[in-house]
Amino acid sequence: MRLLFVALAVLLAANNIAADGTECTIVNDYGCFVDTLKPRTLPQKADNAYSYKECAANCYGLGFTGTAGAENGEECWCSNESGPVGASAPQSECDKTCRDDSTQECGGLSRLSQFSFQCTSGQKFYSCSGGLCVEDPQGPWSDPNCNGACKAPPSPPSPPGPSPPAPPGPSPPSPPPPGPPGPTPPPSPPSPPSPPSPPSPPSGHSKKKLGAGDVIVIIFFVGIIFPYFVLGAVYMKYVRNASGVEVVPNYEFWASLPGLISDGFRFVIGKVTGRPQSYQAL
Ligand SMILES: *[C@@H]1O[C@H](CO)[C@@H](O)[C@H](O)[C@H]1NC(C)=O
Repeated sequence: MRLLFVALAVLLAANNIAADGTECTIVNDYGCFVDTLKPRTLPQKADNAYSYKECAANCYGLGFTGTAGAENGEECWCSNESGPVGASAPQSECDKTCRDDSTQECGGLSRLSQFSFQCTSGQKFYSCSGGLCVEDPQGPWSDPNCNGACKAPPSPPSPPGPSPPAPPGPSPPSPPPPGPPGPTPPPSPPSPPSPPSPPSPPSGHSKKKLGAGDVIVIIFFVGIIFPYFVLGAVYMKYVRNASGVEVVPNYEFWASLPGLISDGFRFVIGKVTGRPQSYQAL
């Protein structure tokens, strides 16, 4: 049982990591270089980092896009140079393994492990297409619901028969139809929203991709909860020869759960109202 909760906590933590923005890749690993004191080989110190990717993200956050270096296992230095900077040093002098990536050396004493990187902010943008808010790198909104500006206009009374074909794809903003006035655009975004295009699907449901978190939760239920009860019941019935409610795995625990929860509530209520209820009263 405890394992289940630990698994859930780990899954939630993974969800948070996925929600974070900046994503970096290491493009070139230049090797080991001397760091001088005056001036420093790479001019700008960033927050400490324990992997190349973390250092790259820290430099990117300070506005650097060139060569970065990890020093002495934790320091992170940044430059806008393209290519390695300073005097090369034997790789053996970069001997501090990165704490968060044991496959890399994070420099050494006065030695920089230099590398180049490419980062993206992970920020997505959206625009309206066919009354729907869709992902669009050119889009004016960063809100996946387009600040509610993409409502499809009420569908006009259409003659019976096949409806006119919908626009082919979500991407190219279609030219404005002489349609009804749409909702007023929000004041904040820099460029005006594309006006509502012909109503294709009348439903107001926006296409929403499953995030990593959703997938993890689905895997959790399909992969853990479902097999637990189904395989558990099969096991209890055919291996343990259980019958009736006894085929529910850990039946005693589940049967006592409602009682445990209500006891918990009554205990808390008793504390809050200042009328502590003894366990005998429960
Ligand atoms: C580094 O280069 C980028 C563009 O390549 C530039 O926007 C940024 O201002 C530069 N940063 C510094 C600190 O010079």
